Amino acid sequence: MKVAIIKERRAHERRVAATPDSVKHMVGMGLEPVVESGAGAEAYFGDAAYGAAGAAIVPDAAAALADADIVLKVQRPLIGGGDGTDELGLIKRGAALIGLLRPLRHPEDLEAYARAGIAACAMELIPRITRAQTMDVLSSQANLAGYKAVLEAAAEFGRAFPMMMTAAGTIKAARVLVMGAGVAGLQAIATARRLGAIVSASDVRAAAKEQVESLGASFITVDDEAARGAETTGGYAREMGEEYQRRQRDKISEALRRTDIVICTALIPGRAAPVLLTEAMVAGMMPGSVIVDLAVEAGGNVEGSRPGEIATTANGVRIVGHLNMPSRIAVDASQLYARNLLAFLALIVDKEGQLRIDTEDEIVKAALLTRDGAVVNPALAAEPVLAPATSGATPGVSPGATPGATG
Ligand code: NAI
Repeated sequence: MKVAIIKERRAHERRVAATPDSVKHMVGMGLEPVVESGAGAEAYFGDAAYGAAGAAIVPDAAAALADADIVLKVQRPLIGGGDGTDELGLIKRGAALIGLLRPLRHPEDLEAYARAGIAACAMELIPRITRAQTMDVLSSQANLAGYKAVLEAAAEFGRAFPMMMTAAGTIKAARVLVMGAGVAGLQAIATARRLGAIVSASDVRAAAKEQVESLGASFITVDDEAARGAETTGGYAREMGEEYQRRQRDKISEALRRTDIVICTALIPGRAAPVLLTEAMVAGMMPGSVIVDLAVEAGGNVEGSRPGEIATTANGVRIVGHLNMPSRIAVDASQLYARNLLAFLALIVDKEGQLRIDTEDEIVKAALLTRDGAVVNPALAAEPVLAPATSGATPGVSPGATPGATG
């Protein structure tokens, strides 16, 4: 069976869905990887390395996709060719397409996948059960996004992070506040601590307190009682009521007076990201402060953050709204993502190297969007016209708005 890996053509995407290392594993599984020339160039994986690992290198996407039985992608494929190559149109009927397909954000794509007769699998819908940990793209990418967000903040910040005692005087340690202590937030805390900052964090889930403190940061508690009910059975946050939000803003406003840098990572599955920093709160921050809004693609945690831009407020606070943070650390993000895909491939390819999509398997069932011309996903098929991620509530299904899901 042929496995196609093509160049990512959507804006802000430098990652690639396979690395020379994952290609080697595919060959070991009895698969025949076919790589479009230049597919890994933006992540510094050259054609020669893919070739040495056992892939066939072909000149363009059409040649790679022509008889591919499995197509590995980072971003959802281009459809219709209006903005370049019609990637979906080049995939043969019956093939499996695996990628970050963002079905909640782009419900219209599902019909197109069904019409194309492909088995489309959305990696971000894989349940976060123990068996699926190696396939958890939300974690692998959010972890790197949290790390990179701190470095982006450091680059914009006109001061150092650690305390430094020099002959010319003492430099004070920077104070970092992390809003949302999930996968990205915890890595942001760890990274800021390594750089020598004094770090505090806040989250609606009670369980986050211990995790934050174990990383050496202080936890800002808003309401203990409310925090106990703030977590869903899936471990995600619920949308909090107005009273909680008011108290949270009061607490955070107080903390902001002593804060130089804020890293915002708060998301709620199936909904718009909660607004945690209002314009008034940002206006109260010190000039030169930096905010990174990792939730910008899901509507943003910060009033005034602009997707893809660095905005500067009247009081000199910079709000970083970079899209697709994992793409800014494309080498490692590709390595981990390719590993996630390999683990999923092992589920849908049998020992003879043949495609075998077992819909009885809960992981496959959760990820599979379309098959044999129909939308088959249990979480999505019930909703005739799917609500976009910013307004629909699909309990237990991640919005796929995790940093890195641009497009
Ligand atoms: P996420 O990306 O959905 O949200 C990020 C963080 O924002 C969460 O910690 C959430 O509680 C927080 N948040 C939401 N609304 C907020 C608000 N108004 N104020 C402050 N914070 C707010 O979450 P992520 O990173 O995907 O993690 C979700 C959960 O899944 C966590 O409990 C994590 O430990 C768990 N998890 C479990 C895994 C496993 O068992 N295999 C793997 C990865 C994560």
